[in-house]
Amino acid sequence: MNIVLLGAPGAGKGTQAARISEKCGVPHISTGDIFRKSVADGTELGREAKRYMDAGELVPDEVVIGIVKERLAEPDCARGFLLDGFPRTVGQADALSGALAETGRELDSVIDIEVDTASLISRLTGRRTCRACGNITNVAGLANEPKACELCGGELYQREDDTVATVTHRLTVYTRQTEPLTDYYRSKGLLRQVDGNRSPDGVFEEISRIIDGC
Ligand code: AP5
Ligand code: MG
Repeated sequence: MNIVLLGAPGAGKGTQAARISEKCGVPHISTGDIFRKSVADGTELGREAKRYMDAGELVPDEVVIGIVKERLAEPDCARGFLLDGFPRTVGQADALSGALAETGRELDSVIDIEVDTASLISRLTGRRTCRACGNITNVAGLANEPKACELCGGELYQREDDTVATVTHRLTVYTRQTEPLTDYYRSKGLLRQVDGNRSPDGVFEEISRIIDGC
């Protein structure tokens, strides 16, 4: 199954992607994770991407598209893939459909997770991610903030772009540059919208109905 996950920053794309990837046995390809790894590894790509990420801006299309095309050509994508955070502009969406057509593939579903803005801000500012296993959690409202991952004991960290100021800008960028993709994919008959204002289990239940049979 070839799936795209759409949704604003904090909508729960990464949280649901881990579950979908496990259920369907397809690789989870997160452009944000690819850039964060490049930053951590100190590569030239990481240095370039960091300038945009820290400002809450999108990395230029010509940089992102090349990376995703290379990743989709890897053998593990032959039986399907799950894209999280790509495409994010109409230019990226056009490039994706071109790249898939060249290899005789097409998208099966574009799943758009919808969440109200107030929840997005509290989810993002309270998010913590495990440095070791990547598990995503949230500490908003907890009296004692956990320092270790509940799954593997690894160190929990806060993403540098999860400050209130950067989050607010990321949401504006999302509205301006990425939200038009809902109409883009609706017009192609691929869009499936999911109410993301429920528990992670509730959201996954609805997504599971969409990807039934994967
Ligand atoms: P990226 O890493 O993709 O960030 P994002 O799209 O802003 O989305 P997030 O990862 O912040 O949120 P999410 O939807 O994955 O939510 P999560 O599951 O973590 O991109 C980062 C940057 O990289 C961009 O700003 C840009 O600079 C660059 N970039 C990446 N891709 C690019 C592209 N294609 N083009 C150009 N630039 C690109 O959940 C969030 C929190 O909510 C967590 O704490 C979680 O525990 C909690 N939560 C999740 N689900 C629920 C629920 N149902 N109920 C309650 N809490 C929940
Ligand atoms: Mg994410």
